[in-house]
Amino acid sequence: MRKKIIAGNWKMNKTLDEATVLATEIRSQVMQRGHANLLTILAPPFPYISELAHHCADTDGLALGAQNCHTETQGAFTGEVSAQMIASCGAAFVLVGHSERRLYFQEDAETLRKKINQAYACGLTPIYCIGETWEQRSAGKHVDTVAQQLRESLLHLTPDFFATHPLPILAYEPVWAIGTGNTATTEQAQEMHAFIRNELHQQWNETLAQTTPILYGGSCNASNAADLFACQDIDGGLIGGASLKATDFQHIRQAMLEVLA
Ligand code: 13P
Repeated sequence: MRKKIIAGNWKMNKTLDEATVLATEIRSQVMQRGHANLLTILAPPFPYISELAHHCADTDGLALGAQNCHTETQGAFTGEVSAQMIASCGAAFVLVGHSERRLYFQEDAETLRKKINQAYACGLTPIYCIGETWEQRSAGKHVDTVAQQLRESLLHLTPDFFATHPLPILAYEPVWAIGTGNTATTEQAQEMHAFIRNELHQQWNETLAQTTPILYGGSCNASNAADLFACQDIDGGLIGGASLKATDFQHIRQAMLEVLA
């Protein structure tokens, strides 16, 4: 069975004290109600990773991720954070290609390809985010957009590579659904997830396609999570706003626990 994953992308929110309280609450929820096939990932802002790693250490089913990394391992890049640093602070995952990075920080396909390579080189598993804008969907280009994002930044990795590296996590996040309350319908989401899985099948092979987790992100919350997670090709969620409150996040985890029950 594919791994199920609920990941919280905290974006640029919370002070250290608030982040510690939130992580501690989520940790106790994970310890009370978990499943061997459910992984919960928290992606706090960079400065909190090390501290939260201490709080979350040795908790089965709970891991930390960063929200971004640089393309290089080290050097004169003032203000940047490398994948190696992130790994040394105790995180195991890193988001790459979030639409806010693509839009506000002009991260292009080549940069994202390097970041995915860099994440793997430093022992992190990338969570590669893809998704179309509303303009692209309105023009009927959503499928082509996502295919291009896969091809340009991820599919240079070959099946051989995954003999020695963990599979990536994919996150389909339609840009128009992020932070808007306009969640994709289950039909829209499932259609895109099935398409993405089929691309992996075409470019890699059936086994890799069937084992790569594909998460949905974009206004996923306690009231729509169960329907989304019931879809055949949706393996969990990448949650923004609803990951900032322990009770909301727990409801989303609970929806997945019910799918697994
Ligand atoms: P929201 O859940 O706030 O829409 O954000 C989704 C997201 O961008 C997660 O990476």
